[in-house]
Amino acid sequence: MSTFVQSAEKRHLEHLAIIMDGNGRWAKQRGLPRVAGHQQGVEAVTRIVDECVRHGIRYLSLFAFSSENWGRPRQEIDALMGLLLQYLSSQRQKMLTERIRLRVIGDLSRLSEPVQSALVDVVRETSQGQTFTLILALSYGGRDEIMRAAKQVARHALDGHLDIDQLDNKSFSAFLDTGDLPEPDLLIRTSGEVRISNFLLWQAAYAEFYFTDVLWPDFDAVELQKALAEYSQRKRRFGLTDDQTEPQIKESND
Ligand code: IPE
Ligand code: IPE
Ligand code: MG
Repeated sequence: MSTFVQSAEKRHLEHLAIIMDGNGRWAKQRGLPRVAGHQQGVEAVTRIVDECVRHGIRYLSLFAFSSENWGRPRQEIDALMGLLLQYLSSQRQKMLTERIRLRVIGDLSRLSEPVQSALVDVVRETSQGQTFTLILALSYGGRDEIMRAAKQVARHALDGHLDIDQLDNKSFSAFLDTGDLPEPDLLIRTSGEVRISNFLLWQAAYAEFYFTDVLWPDFDAVELQKALAEYSQRKRRFGLTDDQTEPQIKESND
């Protein structure tokens, strides 16, 4: 009798994460204000959400505003928040119709009240969406997220609700903003920068990375296809050996 040992190497791409970078440079190349780049960046978001749904990807995490981006000029921050509000109102109906669920990760308490309430509304309204989950990382930093989780863990322990000796990777993960979400399989960064810039530090431990020089506003279906093709060639070992992760036919006598 033979037993098929399933391969971990060609894991289906369930969760795609993207560091959408290069909006400012896209605008600068055209002699336009940075905000024009951000506007085009929103167009790219709409396009890529549709493409991900078409490809059967179930989760898309987009790095939209980092905890460090709070240091940018007030005018740019305000423009970004305005675009976010516009995006939410223009996409709300489509999300409901297409059963797309919105989630947000990050320190939302730093966002203005109108932005927080718009987010809370759309997250609540779309919570039953089962086709696709769009995760917006806003006011998000991986270190900040881990720190907030650690504080919560400490509070639970002090209250006597948690035994520190029982804490492991899985139970700690549940305290992160991404608690119930799968880890990203592929992480794309546009604009030629080769760094993680504090995105999903914990969750990307075994993500595949894909870097492209294409600026975010130019990222389209063809560029996504290139990244997916590259991902399908990657060999994911998760710390194991080739023999352990390659598909094999095991002979046994029982
Ligand atoms: C990414 O584009 C969007 C945000 C960080 C909000 P940038 O605004 O960082 O564009 P560049 O890197 O200056 O070109
Ligand atoms: C990362 O881009 C954050 C987002 C895409 C929202 P940045 O432009 O802020 O990153 P650095 O400063 O180049 O590392
Ligand atoms: Mg940038």
